[in-house]
Amino acid sequence: MTHIVNTQQATAWNGPEGAHWAEQSGRDNAVNSALTTALLTAAEIGPGDHVVDIGCGTGESTRLAARHAVRGRVLGIDLSAVMLEHARAAVAVAGLPNVVFEQADAQVHPLAEGQFDVAISQFGIMFFAEPVAGFGNIGRALRPGGGIAFLCPRDMAANAWYVVPLSALHSRFGSGGLPESQMFSLADPAHLTEVLTRAGFVDVRPQPLDLPMGFGASADAAAGFYLGSGPVRAVLERNPGLTSELAGDILVNALRPYESPDGVLIPGAHWLVTAGRP
Ligand SMILES: C[S@@+](CC[C@H](N)C(=O)[O-])C[C@H]1O[C@@H](n2cnc3c(N)ncnc32)[C@H](O)[C@@H]1O
Repeated sequence: MTHIVNTQQATAWNGPEGAHWAEQSGRDNAVNSALTTALLTAAEIGPGDHVVDIGCGTGESTRLAARHAVRGRVLGIDLSAVMLEHARAAVAVAGLPNVVFEQADAQVHPLAEGQFDVAISQFGIMFFAEPVAGFGNIGRALRPGGGIAFLCPRDMAANAWYVVPLSALHSRFGSGGLPESQMFSLADPAHLTEVLTRAGFVDVRPQPLDLPMGFGASADAAAGFYLGSGPVRAVLERNPGLTSELAGDILVNALRPYESPDGVLIPGAHWLVTAGRP
């Protein structure tokens, strides 16, 4: 692996958080794939394009990009070894010869200048300690006239998939408001636009996209998902009196109202951002 500056993120995504996401990558994702489709539509990838997928995780968006760039190639970059292991296995099963993955920190990874037509990211680009440096690094790797399309969360308060389960636990085992999460670092559109502009991008367009997130077939399955996630594990670690069993019960009750014939669907408020390299 090349030089890492986002060491805390690397530790988290190579530890329980990465293992948890990798484990979940096989679950039925029909709902969440609507987000990937929206992202790929905005990215306008041509058949001969070279594409980089930032924070590709287990590679769902990478595989879809490879199907668009049939004569091009796609590089997936991620900090997490365990998630890339799943990504590589899925690409082998799908038989996509135009995909490679690298374990690297996208903020500083030495990508050759101008080598890509398009950069994409599905919720993998909000974690840079120095976002202007990170977006600058990605921008330099795009050819003049190339573009970026990415998804990131809007305001925490608008994202019921985050607030509902966390608040249910927090109201009994926390104090004050919910803790800030790096996940929402690009939620403010003025800040997001400033970061990308300072990083050298033009025509920065954050468009609101409201799509629910799917968390499994039932409230029990969804509670199992949340129990393994970083934010819920942090609440458990801070509260020795809160057992996994009790937390599971609290989560099931909070998630029950979101059960539907299509599984547990909870509103999500996202930005679908496009921008260009001059
Ligand atoms: C919320 S997950 C999203 C994964 C995937 N794109 C998806 O939609 O399922 C965030 C991903 O970003 C990766 N990531 C975070 N910071 C990164 C960085 N500086 N460089 C590369 N990957 C990073 C994490 O390892 C993790 O896989």
